[in-house]
This record gives sequence, C-alpha cells and structure tokens, in this order.
Amino acid sequence: MSLYSTEKSVLQFVDAECFRERNIRLFVKRDDLIDSEVSGNKWRKLKFNIEQAKVLKKEGILTFGGAFSNHLVATASACKKSGIKAIGIVRGEELTENSNETLRRCSELGMKLKFVSREEYKLRNDKLYQNDLSYEYENHYIVPEGGANFYGMVGCQEIISEIDVVYDSIFVAQGTTTTSCGILLSLAENAKLHLVPVLKGFDVHNEMRELLNYSIFDSELTEELLSKTIVHSNYHFGGYANYTTELIQFIQKFSNTYKIPLDQVYTGKVMYALFTEMEKGNLENQTVIFIHTGGIQGTKFLEEKEGIILNN
Ligand SMILES: Cc1ncc(COP(=O)(O)O)c(C=O)c1O
Repeated sequence: MSLYSTEKSVLQFVDAECFRERNIRLFVKRDDLIDSEVSGNKWRKLKFNIEQAKVLKKEGILTFGGAFSNHLVATASACKKSGIKAIGIVRGEELTENSNETLRRCSELGMKLKFVSREEYKLRNDKLYQNDLSYEYENHYIVPEGGANFYGMVGCQEIISEIDVVYDSIFVAQGTTTTSCGILLSLAENAKLHLVPVLKGFDVHNEMRELLNYSIFDSELTEELLSKTIVHSNYHFGGYANYTTELIQFIQKFSNTYKIPLDQVYTGKVMYALFTEMEKGNLENQTVIFIHTGGIQGTKFLEEKEGIILNN
C-alpha cells in the first residue's frame, strides 16, 4: 500500500470567461492536495526512492538541501511515516537546527542534520564524496538534491496515468527537470509539454537530456521526446526565488478568484505563463492541464519575512 494516497489529487476544472471565449478548457491537477508536507511533486519523487531503500534493506535515506528546502522536510516526513531514518546534508555551516522553521521541522521529524560549507556542498553529486558519506552514515540510501534521479522521474510518470481527459497541452514548472522528464515519458501521443524553468538562463534541453539519456539509454528516443516540448524561458521573474509586484498581484488575484493557492517560486510563475500564452492566442481550442507541483509551504516565508499574503 502507498504511504500517501494520490486520490486527493483531483483534476479540477477552472471555469473562466477568458478561457471560454477562446474555447479553451483548463484543468488543474491538484497534487498540492496529496499532503501538507509531502505535497505536490514531493511524494511522486520520494515514492520509489523509499521503496528502493527498503528493497536494498537500507536503514534510512540520506539527501541534500538548502536552508529552506521543501524536499528536506518532505523526506523527513515520509521517512518518519515509513519507519526509516533520514539524514539531511544542509548547505551552510553557519546554520543550526533552530535557524528557521524548515530546519526545526526536519529535526522535529527525526531527521539528523549535518551542516556543511558551501564549498563542501558543491561536492554533493561527486562519487568520492558520496562514498565518504556512506562510510560516515552506514547503510543509508543516497537520494540527490530535489529527489532528482531515475526513481524520482519514474514516480512523476504516475501523474499522467491519473489524468482521464484527452488533453493537448500540459504546463509544468522546472527546477531539476525530474518532474517534467517523468511527465514527458508518459505524455499522450500528440500532446505538447510546456516547460517553465524557474531559473534564469537554464539550459532546459541539455539538463533534460542528461537525466533522460542516463535513464533510458537511447539518445534517439530522447530527441524524439524533447521535440514534444515547448520551452517558455521568459517567465523566471529574475531567477530562482525572485518575484515582482506583478507576479504577486497575479497570484493573489488568481487564488482569490479560483480558490486554488499558488506559490511565488514555482506554480505562480507557471500559471502566469499559461495566462500570458492564452492571451497571446497560443492555446485556442485546446484542453490544457496545469500540474500543481505544490510549494505552498514556501509562501509562509514570504508572509513571515515580507508580510505578503498570497493565498487567502
Ligand atoms: C513546488 C515545486 N514545483 C516544481 C518543482 C520543480 O520540479 P523539478 O525539480 O522536478 O523540475 C519543485 C522542485 O522540486 C518544487 O518544489
């Protein structure tokens, strides 16, 4: 049995005049409703990694993240629920378990945190460094930052199997590309995958190529898959975690009108891209799916630090 039920992730129809006028049907795949902590793409990426750790009879999972990493909290929470240990390697030797709510929560959930310098953190994907970690934390299964590996990607494939309408376009946010690669592997024959990278200057196709080639070992198939993507690289709003007043106002208006929360780092940027492409006339007569990858915890930070409330 699965630890978290994805039945809560409904396909929600968004009834909006601007879409009706253009004969567009918009649905939101509400993965944000799976769990408050293991929300959005987090459970998708962790599911098979946790299974794999169990198959290999590992004691726990070791993974990596920054001071505000949603992935770290999700891993801590899912490992606790699975009855296995969790180790988090955190960027920033100046930090402690009490530096912020994210780290406090990780440690409350039983995750053991190790704070390392930015220099050391850069080695997180290095095999020799990982060997040292395996020696220090014996019998732990190592999952890359953001759950960005083959098992993470396979878990994200399942999102598509739960979509029971015929669609033309899917919109999704990109960070490590794990979620979008998984979706791409299962995308319907004639559909297009619209990618919205949240990092400025992100080399979308090369990043995806790396994960896809490593996983499917067929570069021709990879290129065929990539030809089904449309990259929207102008909706990063200045880069990772950056935002503008325009984006904030858009999110507030959207969530107020349609009662679907969005965050300023990922999903808000994607929805903004979708609306802009719709206004440009690029989605006429289509059925469009927006994948809600979660991230709502990240809005708390904005509320605490800046006093900005995104979702009422
Ligand atoms: C809320 C949210 N949406 C989208 C993404 C991007 O997903 P990926 O890193 O798989 O490209 C992330 C990062 O994991 C995320 O936290």
